[in-house]
Amino acid sequence: MTETTPMTEKTPSAAPLLEIRGLSATYGQVRVLKPTNLSLFEGELVTVLGPNGAGKTTLVRAIMRLVKAQGEVRFKGEDVGRLATHDLAKRGIVLVLEGRGLFGSMTVQENINLGAYTATRVELQERRARIFELFPRLKERLHQQSASLSGGEQQMLAIGRALMADPKLLLLDEPSLGLAPRVAAEILRALGQLNKAGLGILLVEQKAPLALKLARRAYVLTLGRVVKELEAGEIGSHHDIAQYYFS
Ligand SMILES: Nc1ncnc2c1ncn2[C@@H]1O[C@H](COP(=O)(O)OP(=O)(O)OP(=O)(O)O)[C@@H](O)[C@H]1O
Ligand SMILES: [Mg+2]
Repeated sequence: MTETTPMTEKTPSAAPLLEIRGLSATYGQVRVLKPTNLSLFEGELVTVLGPNGAGKTTLVRAIMRLVKAQGEVRFKGEDVGRLATHDLAKRGIVLVLEGRGLFGSMTVQENINLGAYTATRVELQERRARIFELFPRLKERLHQQSASLSGGEQQMLAIGRALMADPKLLLLDEPSLGLAPRVAAEILRALGQLNKAGLGILLVEQKAPLALKLARRAYVLTLGRVVKELEAGEIGSHHDIAQYYFS
């Protein structure tokens, strides 16, 4: 029997979109990410902050099963901890890697098309149109090799390609890395727009001020451990995040 009670029908978003419990990761013998708990509710933009080497990239790689990890990862209440990366993407979790992971010799159009999983032609057209609305510069450079794009355009392309999978949750690893402040702000503004339209976003950033402008909640990671969790409301008034970067 698969009867659902009216109660569960009315509260489908009660479970977090993403919930990780005791997630840890090791490289060789070294446990780089200590058991970590984190949750992200539907439509939330949550940021993970921390200094170099804190374990931020390892955390998102552990969620995507790109490193050896132990612990629980739940997506919409369902245990997805054993799924391969591409199966996670099919469910709706997509990672935009630090360094972007584009195919440099391919054109903008080819890279965008690579992001799509099963979808109808009409759906793909709609997704492309939304991406070009968000990043008009990609449309102007459709046939250009992606290696010849500027850093900011490459980041736009990496995000655009991820959007082709129609994710419910986007994980981003330092999308502002190496970009001029104006371009970094442009990228983060686009993420804010996507989030306003309902997309869940887990944003790993070193640049705390930029990320905190957008985020509803923040986790601060140092030495592979969450040392601080800030809730909505606390964020705007919190000025001592820097202490975690230098302690
Ligand atoms: N492939 C690897 N093999 C061994 N150790 C690694 C590997 N990748 C990362 N580490 C180590 O794991 C720790 C956490 O690295 P990680 O890349 O997750 O940090 P980060 O917070 O993303 O840093 P950054 O802000 O510089 O990107 C570091 O001490 C790093 O040296
Ligand atoms: Mg990193």
